[in-house]
Amino acid sequence: MSDTKAKLNVPGRDPIELPVLSGTLGPDVVDVSALTGQGLFTYDPGFVSTGSCESKITYIDGNKGQLLHRGYPIDQLAEQSNYLETCYLLLYGELPTRQEYEEFTSVITRHTMVHEQLRSFYSGFRRDAHPMAIMCGVVGALSAFYHDSLDISDVEHRKVAAFRLIAKMPTLAAMCYKFSIGQPFIYPDNSMDYAENFLHMMFGTPCEDSVIDPAISRAMDRIFLLHADHEQNASTSAVRLTGSSGANPFACIAAGIAALWGPAHGGANEAVLDMLYEIGDEKNIDKFIERAKDKDDPFRLMGFGHRVYKNFDPRAKVMRESCDEVLAVLGIENDPLFRIARRLEKIALEDEYFIEKKLYPNVDFYSGIILKALGIPTNMFTVIFATGRTVGWIAHWHEMISGEYRIGRPRQLYTGATERDYVSIDQR
Ligand code: SDX
Repeated sequence: MSDTKAKLNVPGRDPIELPVLSGTLGPDVVDVSALTGQGLFTYDPGFVSTGSCESKITYIDGNKGQLLHRGYPIDQLAEQSNYLETCYLLLYGELPTRQEYEEFTSVITRHTMVHEQLRSFYSGFRRDAHPMAIMCGVVGALSAFYHDSLDISDVEHRKVAAFRLIAKMPTLAAMCYKFSIGQPFIYPDNSMDYAENFLHMMFGTPCEDSVIDPAISRAMDRIFLLHADHEQNASTSAVRLTGSSGANPFACIAAGIAALWGPAHGGANEAVLDMLYEIGDEKNIDKFIERAKDKDDPFRLMGFGHRVYKNFDPRAKVMRESCDEVLAVLGIENDPLFRIARRLEKIALEDEYFIEKKLYPNVDFYSGIILKALGIPTNMFTVIFATGRTVGWIAHWHEMISGEYRIGRPRQLYTGATERDYVSIDQR
């Protein structure tokens, strides 16, 4: 317990001393858990100033534009690591030795297939169902198939559930796409690495062998890596809150997928592409910038702004470089959407409104352009985000379940009716 105290003076009450706790990085926190015993609650809609837990997984410094996974900067991981090695790091806290890495990738590779019965689950949806709707259903349904890994108090159950989720998300995601275009599901190929296998299941057919450009699978791997984890964002908080009731890991991840779908969160990458199409031409950019600044217009510049980053999202910087590379490899450097995006970024970053409100491009601003260049349909963008983020959700769920935790149960500021007696209908 901390020796440093904060003193809270509330009129009509004795001063309340609250412990001030310090982490290894970031702001100190005031532990307010004792307040309820003093007949007081804190009030912080949107949790702008609230730390929900202690964690060792990811650290973000919004002013510096810094993102660390277990202490390693995201740009170094994007440059020198790969998605599965980063998964190992997020789950276990250290970079793997070569043997640990090979064992981990081997286990993940051998859990990529899904139960054959799951295939018929898809046929219950319309072909034009949004793939995120399917993913919410199918991932939650995994708990109906894996009764051997639902005991969250069993460390082995937790481990195999984590492997199954990381391994099967690309398979389930690709099945959403195949189902939507009426093509047969493609089984995973154990001779391929994680991203290559995903592209194989997305674009392969039973009629010929898949030929996947290494530069393209590297870009796909980097997209998964850049989405792997991001501290206590809305969907990760949904996973933690769901897990705090003792719900099984598949149900928790389904809750994360549902939360991620919103356009203010993971749904923004799809919304960025829709916005760029709506802008249509560089000459229309100024009009949309004005709309984004107009309080009476609900339009916001999708892919801009962030609750934590008040500087460049470091992932957006890496994503922009990756965008340059992918478009060059594909020979579409002059992609009109990319040109609009680069121009939009330049204009917005020079505009007083965006400067004053510290609105910078976030991870979603460029990811959609890369995904479109890779041939991924727009409605699959958030599914890709969910696939990459699954390891972060699991790492946080596991960190919570492995330690001391209680069911999450926020309180409220009640402003409704005070007590009153029932009135029979003929008296109303
Ligand atoms: C992700 O939390 C995470 O870590 C999320 C994420 C992750 O990896 O998990 O990083 C992924 O969700 C990235 C964000 C993707 N969403 C978008 O790109 C949607 C567009 N952005 C906005 O909706 C908004 O910026 C949020 C939701 C991202 C942040 O919302 P906040 O922190 O609640 O900020 P706010 O809405 O209070 O905005 C502050 C001000 C407001 O103006 P005032 O009320 O002060 O006058 O900035 C304005 C907003 O109107 N503003 C914008 C804007 N974003 C904020 N104005 C125009 N365009 C925008 N994009």
